[in-house]
Amino acid sequence: MKLKKLAAIAMSTMILAASLMGCGGGSGSSEQSTTAETTDAAAFTTVKEGVLTMATNAYFPPYEYYEGQDIVGIDAEIAKAVADKLGLELQIEDMEFNSIIGSVQTGKVDMGLAGMTVTDERKESVNFTESYATGIQSIIVKEGSDIQTVDDLDGKKIGVQLSTTGDIYAVDDYGAENVEEYNKGADAVQALITDKVDCVIIDNQPAISFVAANEGLKILDTEYVTEDYAACLSKDNEALLEAVDGAIKELKEDGTIQGILDKYIVSE
Ligand code: ARG
Repeated sequence: MKLKKLAAIAMSTMILAASLMGCGGGSGSSEQSTTAETTDAAAFTTVKEGVLTMATNAYFPPYEYYEGQDIVGIDAEIAKAVADKLGLELQIEDMEFNSIIGSVQTGKVDMGLAGMTVTDERKESVNFTESYATGIQSIIVKEGSDIQTVDDLDGKKIGVQLSTTGDIYAVDDYGAENVEEYNKGADAVQALITDKVDCVIIDNQPAISFVAANEGLKILDTEYVTEDYAACLSKDNEALLEAVDGAIKELKEDGTIQGILDKYIVSE
């Protein structure tokens, strides 16, 4: 918190200095802003100087998905707002969900932001920021399915996205032999459409998007598990964790995050 404040003060001083230089029309104005950026960056380090590199898995609407070549959605917008606050440029790297934590741990990226649920097990590998949204694990079935509640899942084939919490819970509750893991949530949904699985366990917002995009599917009324989403960062970069965490807190307080959520979140 303290560090973030310092960074914020450094930032505003830098902006003030830069604009004063600009007003003076001095020839050294570009040099001045370079120096100022370096001073600010000294508060924390990122993989690439001046850039906040975010890992995600962009097949998870409305949190992250492709619009043409661009990755858009709730997480992309929150990350952009965080990067702006920290005076960084945002770069998004799309990868398998399964690779995000490893990439954060090994310092290939600065943070993971992927509708990722905070779990105790993940906390052993990475640090999480304050939560910015809530997720619910939902169950998608075909219309007319004999699965009506969670109690009907015993012995059924369950499709999940590999290494997600849906995967972890399904394996725990119904046994690995009944769980089919797919790299993308959309692939699990495709398997449901083609009757390779009897249901899909996935977060509620992607579930709503997938059901809206495919005829003949519905979401069960049952809420399987409720969870918190947060950004994850390396345990070796406390300064950046504080900076990102501070930015997320501010963006929650000033209503920016709520505005982004409201723009994308739809009820069923
Ligand atoms: N919330 C779930 C989890 O953390 C699923 C997240 C999947 N995210 C994605 N971008 N594919 O395990």
